[in-house]
Amino acid sequence: MKPAFTNFYLFLVLFGSTIVRASIIPKVSGVNTEIVAPTNKNEELSSHFINVMKESIPNEYIVMFKKNVKSYQIQAHFKHLQVISNLHGKFFDLNTFKIEPFQIGRNTEYNQKGDSSPLLNGYLLKTDSSLVSHILPYLKLINIIEVIETNSKIHLNKQTIQEDTPWGLTRISKRDRVWIGEDQKYLYDMESLNPKVVVNSYILDTGINIEHEQFEGRASWGITIPDNDNEFDYNGHGTHCAGVIGSRDFGVAKNTRLIAVKVLRSNGDGEMSDLIKGIEYVVNDHLNNLAQNITGTEFKGSVINLSIGAGKSPALTLAIKAATKYGVHFAVAAGNEQDDACYLSPSDSEDVITVGATGFSDQMAFFSNYGPCVNIFAPGMNIMSTFIGPNNNETLSLTGTSMASPHVAGLIAYFLSLQPEIDSQYNVKKELISPEILREKVSKFATKDAIYDVPELTPNLMIFNGRGENLSKFWNY
Ligand SMILES: *[C@@H]1O[C@H](CO)[C@@H](O)[C@H](O)[C@H]1NC(C)=O
Ligand SMILES: *[C@@H]1O[C@H](CO)[C@@H](O)[C@H](O)[C@H]1NC(C)=O
Ligand SMILES: *[C@@H]1O[C@H](CO)[C@@H](O)[C@H](O)[C@H]1NC(C)=O
Ligand SMILES: *[C@@H]1O[C@H](CO)[C@@H](O)[C@H](O)[C@H]1NC(C)=O
Repeated sequence: MKPAFTNFYLFLVLFGSTIVRASIIPKVSGVNTEIVAPTNKNEELSSHFINVMKESIPNEYIVMFKKNVKSYQIQAHFKHLQVISNLHGKFFDLNTFKIEPFQIGRNTEYNQKGDSSPLLNGYLLKTDSSLVSHILPYLKLINIIEVIETNSKIHLNKQTIQEDTPWGLTRISKRDRVWIGEDQKYLYDMESLNPKVVVNSYILDTGINIEHEQFEGRASWGITIPDNDNEFDYNGHGTHCAGVIGSRDFGVAKNTRLIAVKVLRSNGDGEMSDLIKGIEYVVNDHLNNLAQNITGTEFKGSVINLSIGAGKSPALTLAIKAATKYGVHFAVAAGNEQDDACYLSPSDSEDVITVGATGFSDQMAFFSNYGPCVNIFAPGMNIMSTFIGPNNNETLSLTGTSMASPHVAGLIAYFLSLQPEIDSQYNVKKELISPEILREKVSKFATKDAIYDVPELTPNLMIFNGRGENLSKFWNY
């Protein structure tokens, strides 16, 4: 007991002022939980509720702070948590009490703008059940917190496999459907191949086989988030997506850099906290690229493709909002449940482009989610792309909204690469185009009422790349 006492004393000395406040925290036995009801895209998040996710991971919580919380307040909060932990005898057992902070948009000139900074702070708390009943009531009283939610399992959207050709590329470069026997072409602006222009596409998925010859050396490994996992895509899903976004033969944007952000394990499962850490990585990488302005290149933006299905997650919604404020674009799969996309995250987010899937004859795919949270449709049935296997030239045809969202991620990368120079007459704001404005332009430029079997309240819009022709109309919307 002696060392324990000594350490406790030291702890009191260090954090004496917080001990008193911590000790008046009401002790509540049993945990109160309230579930946040499904919301529309524009609804405000309520604070001080614990959002209980489907497939919660026991004793793990994602906590997001309100905007403009100061770092000393966060440090004080962490100390409070340590004090509570300590008071309940967990001080010496680091395995039962762990804080993993997130900071989306750290260390940048943006953050000197003070109140207008979208910097988002939060953390993953891992503890044990004996502490949860003491910590949760405390968290619910703290007014610097925006969201508390249970950490949860996330999964790949399911897909089916069939052999076919990449009709999707043909479809997005014309206004009408693709016909059997038609000479299938993909028309795009060769200017988008300018090697000096850098647009980064981040694939938050199972990884990418970056050696695949279809990627022509443009693919690289960003980061592996799950613990004890390897820098390889053993699943193939991420490699397939990356191929639709930017491979030589199957890709929409044939010059984009493809960056693997492995947030899902090889079996396609993962955790919400790892997805948020993946977004944190992308935003911070994007801001570094903006600041560095690598000599001889012109950095024109970043896009994230996400086709991960999860329950309603206010923490993920906040992370995406912060990322888009920093200028990162998102294409998100609507999901394959034949249900309203507003019931799921991230497809419910107002800050992303949510993508439903269509088939060869322009029908809405029978599995595609729909509803007002869908922004647009893209080809998603029998989509040929890169895959994993014994050689670095494997291909496979897959079906799902996960195949539709990469068409949009690729299209965003394509438009970003062609965006008017900062000093051009078309660049009204004299800065890189924002996710909000680009999202609007992509919808306005889309082909209207081409898709059949689209339910009411779902926008009937098919993406369009402009056929490689003059895009002045697009930029002038
Ligand atoms: C990068 O540097 C070039 C040349 O110095 C400049 O024209 C361009 O605006 C810079 N881009 C960014 C994003 O700062
Ligand atoms: C793929 O690569 C392997 C090994 O290099 C080669 O034998 C095979 O012919 C290639 N397949 C195609 C379709 O190019
Ligand atoms: C986008 O990400 C989702 C989820 O990780 C994935 O299922 C889908 O295949 C990806 N699409 C592309 C084009 O990368
Ligand atoms: C594109 O079209 C617009 C109007 O149709 C025209 O004013 C402009 O000069 C064209 N730009 C190029 C590069 O051809």
